[in-house]
Amino acid sequence: MSSLRTETVTSVHHWNDTLFSFTTTRDRGFRFKNGHFVMIGLEVDGRPLMRAYSIVSANYEEELEFFSIKVSDGPLTSRLQNIKVGDSIYVSSKPTGTLVLDNLLPGRNLWLISTGTGLAPFLSIIKDPETYERFDKVILTHGVRFVSELAYQGVIENELPTNEYFGGLIRDKLVYYPTVTREYFPTQGRLTDLMDSGKLVMDLELPKFSLEHDRFMVCGSPAMLKDTCDILNAQGFEEARHGNAGHYVIERAFVEK
Ligand code: A2P
Repeated sequence: MSSLRTETVTSVHHWNDTLFSFTTTRDRGFRFKNGHFVMIGLEVDGRPLMRAYSIVSANYEEELEFFSIKVSDGPLTSRLQNIKVGDSIYVSSKPTGTLVLDNLLPGRNLWLISTGTGLAPFLSIIKDPETYERFDKVILTHGVRFVSELAYQGVIENELPTNEYFGGLIRDKLVYYPTVTREYFPTQGRLTDLMDSGKLVMDLELPKFSLEHDRFMVCGSPAMLKDTCDILNAQGFEEARHGNAGHYVIERAFVEK
């Protein structure tokens, strides 16, 4: 059994009516790999109510950051969306997950395929200098219904490229590809359709996916994961399993909260 620690909320940012992010203090002994998730929660009716959340912050950062939806009748998020700086929050001591670099075979291009809050673990991955040591190009995709759901756009496009330590790597290697399905945006459509049709690689002026060069991390709803796996499997890509590295790894975005 993992034990629960109590951390303190240090900032809260509401992106829109349905999405928010917050940061907390981080116990000095809390270690995780970039891409991991952890159970977090609040005390409800005298007991901890915990849900899985991917960690947005990188493992070298001082604070922990999380990205959440707001569900008005969600047992946890109906409460979590009201947290304020100074409030306490539980964080379990055992982070885990499959979206880690070590689970992937070496390759040239790393495709981070996300929808909705599935973006969260990839923010940690794109802040990891090792990601850029292992791959020549890192393509962060984010599929959402509405433009207002393109959280972290400013961080990805403006803050990270000017980071004093690894801004150069980001400018050279990171490509951001947001796409919107239910209103106008320059890039539109489901990521699965964009992968299937070849529009994604065409827009980015990259060659067709190849078993030799392309690796994938996928995070989204169960339906999105299934459809994306079907596309990758049909092209011969193999999922990492049982501790063996593969061409791709998947994790459910934890949304029913
Ligand atoms: P769409 O608007 O066509 O449903 P959600 O909030 O439902 O998780 O959706 C986030 C984004 O993921 C939306 O753009 C949505 O497109 C898209 N999406 C939903 N289901 C799938 C799927 N099976 N494959 C790919 N994208 C999906």
